Amino acid sequence: MVAILLGPPGVGKGTQGDRLVRALGWQKIATGDLLRAARREGTELGRKAQEYMEAGNLVPDELIVELVKEKLAALSPDTGVLFDGFPRTVPQAEALDAALPSVDRKVGVVILFDAPADVLHKRISGRRSSPDSGRVYNIYFDPPKVEGICDETGSALIHRDDDQPETVARRLEVYRKQTQPLVEYYDESQATLLRIDGDQEMSEVQGDLHAALAREAGIEVGEA
Ligand code: AP5
Repeated sequence: MVAILLGPPGVGKGTQGDRLVRALGWQKIATGDLLRAARREGTELGRKAQEYMEAGNLVPDELIVELVKEKLAALSPDTGVLFDGFPRTVPQAEALDAALPSVDRKVGVVILFDAPADVLHKRISGRRSSPDSGRVYNIYFDPPKVEGICDETGSALIHRDDDQPETVARRLEVYRKQTQPLVEYYDESQATLLRIDGDQEMSEVQGDLHAALAREAGIEVGEA
């Protein structure tokens, strides 16, 4: 099974995706996380991606498709895969459709989250991440026990450099222009498109997601 998380910046793709792969024992391929890791490690991909990410623009399709193909080739054959933040353009979706048969997979489910822009801005302004565990917090909705410190590792939490208000506005515009056309793309495909209201508490979003996966895709999610 291949599933895709679709939705604007800050809507909760990473939050829900982490919970889902934990509960299902699937693997997650999150292109944003992979690009941030490449930047931290100073690889060629990281250096190429930096200026696009800092400006809130998409990294060129060819770099992303190459990255995803590498990850697909390294997958263990029996696990489900959840893509978070990929595909983000129609050419990326077409490249994925072309690549999946070689690993004997196809896109089964596309999960679309949405929420109003003011909600997205507030969530993003409150987001803090742990640089080592990768755990994501929110100073308004899901704070750490000690302000600014990761509960799990004790390290100082960071604010992503593309989470500044002007960059967020650009990321939302890029989403509307370049990524939203994928809703129609997948609506017309063989995959099951699930529309989930992301403007609810995290547990309510999760409950709706699990119910929709069971009802419309036959995927039963147990507790993580
Ligand atoms: P990426 O890392 O993919 O960022 P994004 O899509 O902009 O998504 P976010 O990570 O901002 O949000 P999310 O939906 O995961 O929300 P989260 O769960 O963290 O991409 C970053 C950049 O990399 C791109 O701009 C681009 O440059 C590049 N890139 C990546 N993939 C690419 C691709 N395929 N092609 C080209 N370029 C690519 O939640 C947000 C906050 O809200 C958190 O603090 C969380 O705790 C909180 N929260 C979550 N859910 C709720 C809730 N229900 N109620 C209250 N708070 C909540």
